[in-house]
Amino acid sequence: MLLAIPDVLTTAQIAEGRKILDAAPWVDGRVTAGHQGAHVKHNVQLPEGSPAGRQVGEIIVNALRASPLFMSAALPLHVLPPMFNRYAAGQTFGTHIDGSVRVLPNGQRIRTDISCTLFFSGPDEYDGGELIIEDTYGAKTVKLPAGHLILYPSTSLHQVTPVTRGARLCSFFWLQSMIRDNTQRALLYDMDVAIQRLGAENPTHPSVIQLTGVYHNLLRQWVEM
Ligand code: NI
Repeated sequence: MLLAIPDVLTTAQIAEGRKILDAAPWVDGRVTAGHQGAHVKHNVQLPEGSPAGRQVGEIIVNALRASPLFMSAALPLHVLPPMFNRYAAGQTFGTHIDGSVRVLPNGQRIRTDISCTLFFSGPDEYDGGELIIEDTYGAKTVKLPAGHLILYPSTSLHQVTPVTRGARLCSFFWLQSMIRDNTQRALLYDMDVAIQRLGAENPTHPSVIQLTGVYHNLLRQWVEM
C-alpha cells in the first residue's frame, strides 16, 4: 500500500526544521548505502546521530504519534530515527531496494517493513527529484508538498530521478510494523477507514461495535511484538 499523508508537519515546523538542517554539516550519502546502493546513490545526508538530525527527528516522531492516519496505516512497532537527505542539481538515487534489517546504535535490530519520505522542500523549489516507486500495479511518481509524507512497503524497488534545478530536502526513515505482511496491514487499514466512516455517519449502529471487534480480533491474530 502506497499512502500519502498530508500535513504531518505544519508550515512553521517545516521552517524551523529547515533552519536547523541548513546550519548542520552534511556528508556524502554513500556512507549509509549498502553495496548495491553505493553505485547509484549521489546525494548528501546528515550523519546518523547528528544533533541537528536528532532535534528535527524528534519533531517528526512526535508528529507521527499524533497522526491517526499514520498510526492506522503503519501500525508501528519501532520507528527508526529519521534521517535527512538533500539532492542538488545533478544528484540522483538510481533504482534500489532498501536494506531489510537495520541496527540501532544500541545493537537492536529492526526489520524495515515500511519506508517513509517526508518532504521538506515544496515541489516549486526544484525540478526533477521525483520519487518513483514500483508498485504491484506499475510505477507511481511521487512529489508532495512540504510537510506531507509518503509511506510504501520497503519491499518496493524505488528511485529518485535526477534533480535538474534547485534542491530537494527530505527526511526518510523506516519502521517495523506490528503487522509484517503488507496485505494484512492494508486490510486492517481499509477496515479501520470503513469503521470510522460508519461510526461518523451512524454512531449508534450496532455494526460499529461488531466490526470494531472484528478489527481487533484480526489484529490480535496477526500482531507481532
Ligand atoms: Ni531507498
